[in-house]
Amino acid sequence: MKKIAPSILAADFANLEKEIKAVSQAGADLIHVDVMDGHFVPNITIGAPVVASLKKISTVPLDVHLMIDKPEKFIDDFLKAGSDYLTIHIESTDQAEIILKKIQTKAKSGLSLKPKTKISVLEPYLKWVDLVLVMTVEPGFGGQSFMPDQVEKIAWLVDYRKKHHLNYEIEVDGGVNFETRKYLNGADILVSGSYIFKNDYKKNIDSLR
Ligand code: DX5
Ligand code: ZN
Repeated sequence: MKKIAPSILAADFANLEKEIKAVSQAGADLIHVDVMDGHFVPNITIGAPVVASLKKISTVPLDVHLMIDKPEKFIDDFLKAGSDYLTIHIESTDQAEIILKKIQTKAKSGLSLKPKTKISVLEPYLKWVDLVLVMTVEPGFGGQSFMPDQVEKIAWLVDYRKKHHLNYEIEVDGGVNFETRKYLNGADILVSGSYIFKNDYKKNIDSLR
């Protein structure tokens, strides 16, 4: 069964505790936390102190998606904050191998790529990842339209995983809703922000699963 990870980017930031409790009660398997630095992507969101606070109140694991330059500088902070999954972007660093191995000592390691990046670029690193995050929008903002041309990356990852006896999870992020769900059968985890938080959380989560 697919896991559903609501992205709190679409939640009410003045009431994050209430929102996380509500969406967890509605069946969320993970809470997806989007960290943006205004450099790697043209938007700023939250940092490690907020993740640490969320960790104190969340009953489900935190799936932290780092959209920041030079993640090597901040990995320790986000691990200490209690990230359960910690995902970096391949475009953001030349130290992916070191970072992924470090994450794996404390949490599940994730590797993501922007829509324009070829999936084969991830190949040298896949033995050190627990999660591959396929972006189906240009990272930076919630509420954008799903890019169907990214779907072939999921098939590639399923195939590669089988061929090489690996067991990473495949996660999809961006524009996921009831309509676009049909493209995503090969994925293990679906991130969804604006669709889930728009109205009835339980109904929307169930419709994705
Ligand atoms: C985009 C973020 C996504 C975003 C998804 O950069 O990584 O997690 O919040 O939001 P929706 O589901 O609205 O596309
Ligand atoms: Zn995300």
